[in-house]
Amino acid sequence: MYTTMIGNYTAKTDFFKMTTPFELLSEYGSPLYVYNEDIFRSRLRQIKNLVKYKNFVPHYSVKANTNISLLKIVKEEGLHVDTMSPGEIYMALAAGFEPKELFYIPNNATEEDLRYAVDRGVLLSVDSISQLQLYAKINPNSKVAIRFNPGVGAGHHQKVVTAGKKTKFGVDMAEFDTVKKILEENNVTLVGINQHIGSLFMDSGAFIESTTNLLEFAKEFDSLEFIDLGGGFGIPYHKQEDQQPLDLVELGSKMDTMFEEFAQDYGREIQFQIEPGRIIACEAGIVLGTVTGTKQNAETTYLGCDIGFNVLARPIMYDSHHDIELYTKRAHPDLEKHPVTVVGNICESGDILAKDRELPMPEYGDIIGLMDAGAYGFAMSSSYNQRPRVAEVLLKSSGEVVLIRRRETFEDLIASML
Ligand code: LLP
Repeated sequence: MYTTMIGNYTAKTDFFKMTTPFELLSEYGSPLYVYNEDIFRSRLRQIKNLVKYKNFVPHYSVKANTNISLLKIVKEEGLHVDTMSPGEIYMALAAGFEPKELFYIPNNATEEDLRYAVDRGVLLSVDSISQLQLYAKINPNSKVAIRFNPGVGAGHHQKVVTAGKKTKFGVDMAEFDTVKKILEENNVTLVGINQHIGSLFMDSGAFIESTTNLLEFAKEFDSLEFIDLGGGFGIPYHKQEDQQPLDLVELGSKMDTMFEEFAQDYGREIQFQIEPGRIIACEAGIVLGTVTGTKQNAETTYLGCDIGFNVLARPIMYDSHHDIELYTKRAHPDLEKHPVTVVGNICESGDILAKDRELPMPEYGDIIGLMDAGAYGFAMSSSYNQRPRVAEVLLKSSGEVVLIRRRETFEDLIASML
């Protein structure tokens, strides 16, 4: 048996179902991404049932987590997917999605990128006038969507705010006349407009405001088949401080009202889409690692582990918080908490997972878990310092543990070099 020194996932029957962090690391090695199928499916269903409006097609944003086993579950649950690169299109098609179940929303795409989608029959959205011109040149007499900037952004960090005045994304609504001219000259029909205001909002104010702007603007076009409102729906990363989830019931009912009102004004019940990634995948994943020891350097106590920013980049990239759990097999662990700085094994001082976190002191061989790592965890990992990328396992609803990505090897590191 083992003790959870700090954390919520205490029982075998909880996140870890029939297994334990110790069994998992001893079987599959450390560090390891672990996903829980029940949680993943429950989030997919929550999003699928977000609104009552009939013509609602939620898309899962595959950039959050592109493991093909998870994509197959998304397909089973009946969601569509949004993709942002040819590689993501390739993965979604490989997972069994039909081209018509994909929406391609690239940024600064090359002609080759656009052709990749066009050749496969995947509808795409352009996000600048020059991209619209490029698209119209290679695919006249066709359909397209345009990503507009609704003027209001949101997000957990300036780096992920993707609407408003300071962002590279979206076409300014003031470009309306130019857009219409290019569409008409090339016989391209605007079938969809989309927005994505940024990633992680916990209060739906900015989302409602931007959507109101976008819907007002949408009435200027009479050819629309759908409006896509983007992703960004947040999750509470501070669960150990009782942070509450986004109120999806309230948000869903506000969206319903907006959709119905729009349908009345527009004269048709056009399709509404959203494309969240994080809220679906994040809480279904944890990354586990091995505690390598603790040490004191001047004022700071460091807790070292094998989860560097090659494994989880979010803390170093955005100063993001992930709740930490510690598990031990020691019979009498000291559970008194101290402020510690949790660091990985990468050769940079910035390789910090958490600063001055109040934690009990673990020892070599104890296990550390970083919570809410299912989105933008593995997807942003790398083999920096020539640490092969780690394995991923899925804890199935049946209790079975399945390896869904093998750990890379040293041979993998060299395989593509000539
Ligand atoms: N749609 C578009 C066009 C997007 O650019 C994104 C995310 C999404 C949907 C999904 O957003 P979500 O629902 O997952 O917030 N690496 C950052 C997040 C970057 C998000 C980029 N775009 C992080 O770890 O917080």
